[in-house]
Amino acid sequence: MSSMKEQIESLLSEVSALKASTEKEVEEARVKYLGKKGEITKLFEEFRTYPSELKKEFGQRLNSLKKEAMSKIEELRESASALTATQQSKDDVSMPGDPLPLGSRHPVSIARQQIINIFRKFGYDVAEGPEVEDDYHVFEALNFPPNHPARDMQDTFFVSVGHPNPLLLRTHTSSVQVRTMEKMQPPIRVICPGRVFRNEAISARAHCIFHQVEGLYIDENVSFADLKQAILLFAREMFGPDTQIRMRPSYFPFTEPSAEVDVSCNICHGKGCNICKGTGWLEILGCGMVDPNVLEASGIDSKKYSGFAFGMGIERIAMLKWQVNDLRHYFENDVRFLREFGTCVEV
Ligand code: PHE
Repeated sequence: MSSMKEQIESLLSEVSALKASTEKEVEEARVKYLGKKGEITKLFEEFRTYPSELKKEFGQRLNSLKKEAMSKIEELRESASALTATQQSKDDVSMPGDPLPLGSRHPVSIARQQIINIFRKFGYDVAEGPEVEDDYHVFEALNFPPNHPARDMQDTFFVSVGHPNPLLLRTHTSSVQVRTMEKMQPPIRVICPGRVFRNEAISARAHCIFHQVEGLYIDENVSFADLKQAILLFAREMFGPDTQIRMRPSYFPFTEPSAEVDVSCNICHGKGCNICKGTGWLEILGCGMVDPNVLEASGIDSKKYSGFAFGMGIERIAMLKWQVNDLRHYFENDVRFLREFGTCVEV
């Protein structure tokens, strides 16, 4: 009976040395040892014919051989199927990739680009200038009297004081209009987008940093009617073709006459709601005819040329367009807020 013992021993060592790299090879090994005509199955058949005292001797060994073979085959099957899976994913170039979380443009950038695109269509160029400016370009050249309250420390962040022309953070981008007029003669048609700074307490309606787009148009015979038409066309492109505008008299040192412009409320269409506070109108910008003193200060002949200027806050336009009721959302960069603008596209 040593042959049974030897067979079990040699099958045990064969089984533990088994190797298979594909699922097909694993199945072949299973059939070879555990199939109907497999070698281990054959030993069991032989075992059945043994007298009971021999059964005692080999029963346990045979069972553990079978267990060993089954667990080895299972182990080989698992590693072969894992291998097939990685090979398949390596080879299958049509499989969808892992999606990368994409950012979206900031609503202030989207609104700025929309404003720029509208004025580009009207023939305006884009001009930029420094954020740290001097008193001359922010105030003096724009006809601010020397003791005008806007120069006060309340509104302006001064970088250097005590100098006749102190450095400061620009409070509006009208300074870029001055720099443009210094560099070129009419016809001038520019818009000046950029960041501006005012020493204000941060609230839902005010921030110490915000963005503006200001515009300037100078040529012969430019009239208030041209200004009104330019603003109307802009408002309709920005807020929809049914938008109406109204102008209210106002005051700026650098324009005369000056006006503030309201658009008809795009939520209630003029009926009155809580966004327009029941008036049906929303203020969007300040504007006016460039004061001759401003033209002359930058070397432009005010007898030959006239022009208009306007300025708007980008955050305000974006708030009205997308009904955002708190300015602080634009600066906190909460991704839940920013994601809402992922599908907004530029015009
Ligand atoms: N510069 C003004 C402001 O910042 C806006 C403005 C620009 C008004 C041009 C009139 C003309 O408030």
